[in-house]
Amino acid sequence: MKKPIKKPVKKEIKPKKVNKPVKTETKKESAGAEKSKRTFNLLRGMHDILPKEERYWKAMFHASENLASYFQFGRIETPVLEEASLFVRAVGKGTDVVDKEMYLFEDRDGSKVCMRPENTAAIVRAYIMYGMWNAPQPVKLWYWGSMFRHDRPQAGRYRQFTQVGYETLGSHDPAADAELILVAYNFYQELGLPVTIHINSLGTPEERVRYKSELVNYYRSKRSYLCEDCKQRLVKNPLRLLDCKAEQCQGVKDEAPQIIDWLGTESKSHLTKVLEYLDAVEVPYQLTHTLVRGLDYYTHTVFEIYPDTPDAGGGAQSALGGGGRYDLLVEEMGGRPTPACGFALGLERSFHVLKQYLEQNGKDIPKERPDVFFAQLGEEARKVTLKLINDLRKSGLKIGFNFFKNSLKTQLELADGFKVPYVLIIGQKEVQDNTVIIRDMESGIQEIVDQKKLETMLKKKLGKV
Ligand code: HAM
Repeated sequence: MKKPIKKPVKKEIKPKKVNKPVKTETKKESAGAEKSKRTFNLLRGMHDILPKEERYWKAMFHASENLASYFQFGRIETPVLEEASLFVRAVGKGTDVVDKEMYLFEDRDGSKVCMRPENTAAIVRAYIMYGMWNAPQPVKLWYWGSMFRHDRPQAGRYRQFTQVGYETLGSHDPAADAELILVAYNFYQELGLPVTIHINSLGTPEERVRYKSELVNYYRSKRSYLCEDCKQRLVKNPLRLLDCKAEQCQGVKDEAPQIIDWLGTESKSHLTKVLEYLDAVEVPYQLTHTLVRGLDYYTHTVFEIYPDTPDAGGGAQSALGGGGRYDLLVEEMGGRPTPACGFALGLERSFHVLKQYLEQNGKDIPKERPDVFFAQLGEEARKVTLKLINDLRKSGLKIGFNFFKNSLKTQLELADGFKVPYVLIIGQKEVQDNTVIIRDMESGIQEIVDQKKLETMLKKKLGKV
């Protein structure tokens, strides 16, 4: 027997009360609703680089690339992920980078891997792996890429950041140190940011051992004046005592023994020669006896780059970049004895300081401008315009356009904003005649040209023949 079809009962639809959770909703359903609404944020210490910042990043990349090419550094790209022990060995236990900041994890096969916190160790790995000592020495390499440190995020400190670095492997010569410092200095000169190089020498490991014991004796006698961090450093990493920024330690630091007095003749002479080169190329520097760097591999020259602008922001109290000699590292990592030196610049810090400095001085990095602007009227015209723009791609001309605006007035306003000398216009008639209107933006005079002759005509008008 057929069941009688029940007539649907019309219910009155009452407006739902807002903000009161419906009691009958299951956990699963509410999780689903949350999923569709949830927006995401960045992880702590991470950042995006947005299109409006691109011109600064482009300028920094161009400066790096041009300098690398002029000073003959070959580009090397190493992976982001490396064996963890590579950095532990090279950078050293007891450093903040290794003890506190490495992005360390077990890979699926159980091996310990690490997101590179810096790149010198990887460059040394590559130098040894590919037998680069067989090539004419020195081998000069440069790189650009992301580094990862689980640092405490603050101004100018990120957990993922970008470095550009230059390394010279296979030369003892102080000229190699000076050349690198000159490249670092030129980088900021190219961008228009005044900087000063802070420089020091850490001598040989033997000289450093003698100096360290003197430093520890001195600091022990002042222990009661020290901050808690320095009390730790005294035991763990005495050279870092000289890095302390705490107000209460400054007096003790000022009176501390200076490493330069513990250097032997050879180390002193190396430093003097580097300084003589810097004088010759007119790079401004400051001898800073408290400069020790935070990584273990350095010997002899160490240096850092600081903006000359005290209020530059973006972590201006921190160095924009730093480096030095690491004459023993290649051998320690299993290679032949190979003197080496290098540096890396932090590009987020450089970006912030540069942007702020330019803004404070009413300057800017010029935005890229098109040579001409292409305006179109109607769908058919848009098709032809797209084809012509694509054809002009190889001409070397920069074409501005916006397909999503239909009115000529809006498109001319856009063109005006770019300050282009000519606007190209295609409407229904031009589509039929295979022509383009070239409008002189200054005089307003319009000219009709054959689409086939457009490239030649434009180049002639823009003086690009
Ligand atoms: P570093 O001093 O550790 O040296 O780093 C160089 C630069 O990277 C710093 O001066 C800073 O601008 C930037 N930097 C470091 N940590 C951060 C961070 N958490 N956030 C943003 N920027 C940061 C090295 O890495 C050595 N590998 C340099 C070198 C090359 N020495 C010899 N060859």
